[in-house]
Amino acid sequence: MISLDLSNAKLNEDLSLWKDKVSEAHSWLHNKTGKGNDYVGWVDWPINFDRDEFSRILKLKERMKGKYDTVLVCGIGGSYLGARAALEMIKGLYPDDGIEVIFVGNTFSHTYISQVLEHIKDKEVVLNVISKSGTTTETSVSFRIFKQFMEEKYGEDAKNRIYATTDKAKGTLKKLADKMGYETFVIPDDIGGRYSVFTAVGLLPLALANIDIVELMKGSLAAYDDFNTDDINSNPAYQYAIARRILDNQGYSAEYFVTYHLQLTMIAEWWKQLFGESEGKELKGILPTSACFSTDLHSLGQFIQEGRKTEFETILYVDNMDKDIVFPEDKEDLDNMNYLAGKNLSWVNEMAFKGTLSAHSNEGNNPNIVIHLKDNSAYSFGYMIYFFFIACGMTCYLLGINPFNQPGVEVYKKKMFALLGKPE
Ligand code: PA5
Repeated sequence: MISLDLSNAKLNEDLSLWKDKVSEAHSWLHNKTGKGNDYVGWVDWPINFDRDEFSRILKLKERMKGKYDTVLVCGIGGSYLGARAALEMIKGLYPDDGIEVIFVGNTFSHTYISQVLEHIKDKEVVLNVISKSGTTTETSVSFRIFKQFMEEKYGEDAKNRIYATTDKAKGTLKKLADKMGYETFVIPDDIGGRYSVFTAVGLLPLALANIDIVELMKGSLAAYDDFNTDDINSNPAYQYAIARRILDNQGYSAEYFVTYHLQLTMIAEWWKQLFGESEGKELKGILPTSACFSTDLHSLGQFIQEGRKTEFETILYVDNMDKDIVFPEDKEDLDNMNYLAGKNLSWVNEMAFKGTLSAHSNEGNNPNIVIHLKDNSAYSFGYMIYFFFIACGMTCYLLGINPFNQPGVEVYKKKMFALLGKPE
């Protein structure tokens, strides 16, 4: 399902030197004994996930079938990135099943919010508000606006079209939802936002968007089984985790997460949050950044090839994306493109990948890690997400960092609240 190619990674150390540290961190993750151990519920979630809630999600989807064409998902950070990444990877950017998913609550942009309100005024809408804390300002601001929209549009029936995913018992959103009579779904106490896509946080919007969440969870379970070993040789997730640490020690301070399809750019956004919030602490960590090739070879390509050498690349290459196209022949060949006639565009993209890998790795002397993923199915998505979860937990523990908190995020909030005049 996933294979890792480190042949162009330019590691100056053998992975096996990290064996003892990996074994220790593996037991921290699985026995819940490491830093931040209150938040490792995601580790065995693929086997322990809440089956009752899972079937409630499927029932809700069945009940609402045919009654909506627009799903509004209101959340920020870990409360939306995973669902959006899944949706775009699996269904593409222009799905043809008549369901549009719109993400709000992730910005204060008045122009965006106004446009969404205008865009959905004649649509049949359901709204899923998602916040673990129940108090995130971006989410709360949008939710109030879209809740009022729903009430004006649907009156009493609005409460049957609004669903809240939040803490099981506490928080402002939980109280509000209970008071309003919304159906609620739970973000477990021991799973933090960026590790929550396999909970209702991801599963409810994805089910509403016609994604096969049964397959998605099967993929996560297969990954749990495959990566539940501290044997470095048979665990590509841990190999990736170690390779990042070796490159960090070699002086590489940034990592480009590279994809080759526009519909995978949200995977990169999700990955940036996972690694950025988990690892960037105590003045340590590798800056997670991203690029989509070949698109960005015409913007960032020059810098990567010949600029300052601070970064390595991690390429997520999906071997079998769906919907291939054969490049057509043209009798007149005025554009001189007939040399590609009859070739699949997937092959053209693959040659771009291979050529770029060689250029960046050889002439550019950049380390390149390649992660091959089988396809863009829901199953593969579930598998891949768990791969990055466990790799992230491991790589942070190898750095001596608690991967499960984000104390730095509070600093901007305090300053903003003071300016907004928020009561204590
Ligand atoms: O990973 C995290 O914990 C954060 O990115 C949160 O998901 C984000 O801040 C949103 O928080 P909440 O779900 O409490 O609204």
